Amino acid sequence: MKIEIIKEDINFGGIVSEINITEDLNDTIINELDKKLNELCLLVFKKQKINDDQQIKFSKYFGKIEGAGNNTTIRSIKERRLSDSFGDVSNLDVNNRPLRKTDNKRFFALGNRLWHSDASFKKIPAKYSLLSGRKVAKIGGETQFADMRAAYDDLPAQIKHKIKNLKSYHSLIYSRQKLGLNMYEMVSAEEIINFKPVKQPLVRKNDFTKRKSIFLASHIGEIEGMEKPDTILFVNDLIEHSTKDKYLYTHNWDENDLIIWDNRQSMHRGLYFDDQNEIRDVRRTTISGTEMLIDQ
Ligand SMILES: [Fe+2]
Repeated sequence: MKIEIIKEDINFGGIVSEINITEDLNDTIINELDKKLNELCLLVFKKQKINDDQQIKFSKYFGKIEGAGNNTTIRSIKERRLSDSFGDVSNLDVNNRPLRKTDNKRFFALGNRLWHSDASFKKIPAKYSLLSGRKVAKIGGETQFADMRAAYDDLPAQIKHKIKNLKSYHSLIYSRQKLGLNMYEMVSAEEIINFKPVKQPLVRKNDFTKRKSIFLASHIGEIEGMEKPDTILFVNDLIEHSTKDKYLYTHNWDENDLIIWDNRQSMHRGLYFDDQNEIRDVRRTTISGTEMLIDQ
């Protein structure tokens, strides 16, 4: 196995070669990959033609897979294309056809084009995500990643001090609001409870590298002790700072690429593609974090 660093200047991202992820992998290899994920935030594997079972098997080396479990008004179980182990990040319906322009499932999925960290709106946010490109867009549809450690390091001292103990509230309601969607109209009153904002620290520290990062996402709609408009502007400023070119890696997908990233220290987003005329079948497995970061 060989790992080549993508952005040497900020120690961000690695391309892993000389490995076949469908094979049985021993602890030495998995520990090395885990160590590199902590250090580099994201790893890219090329030419890994895998099926769903193989993706599940490989994912489980890194921890417990978080079930999708989203039987909602927006997407019921019978409308799901993939098993519960997968997050369907494609633009497809259950019949493998592009979701229609006005479909709520499409609107909801467009939230993936906002900067975010997967499942930051859950009490126990995600650790890693694995995304496999089964079919990719010919034009566009890249995934962009931001290194939130390098972004933290470069913050002015007074901002570091200001955010040190801040607590933010994350919810899908907030991120979808930014797209002009009203979740209160899209799901039932009983379901809206599942979208209750959860409290997260704004600064995280990696246990292994001891590096700090900004825990940021478009899911943030409130910061404790801050007025609402101030929160929105402050979060926008932090996102603008963290997504400067020097902190970014943009992945142009080839079919059968697989990327693993560390949600604890990076943000990501999908970029535009013509989702009415192209097919982008990318499948995500998510590895759960192990504990709540803060009492709710
Ligand atoms: Fe995501």
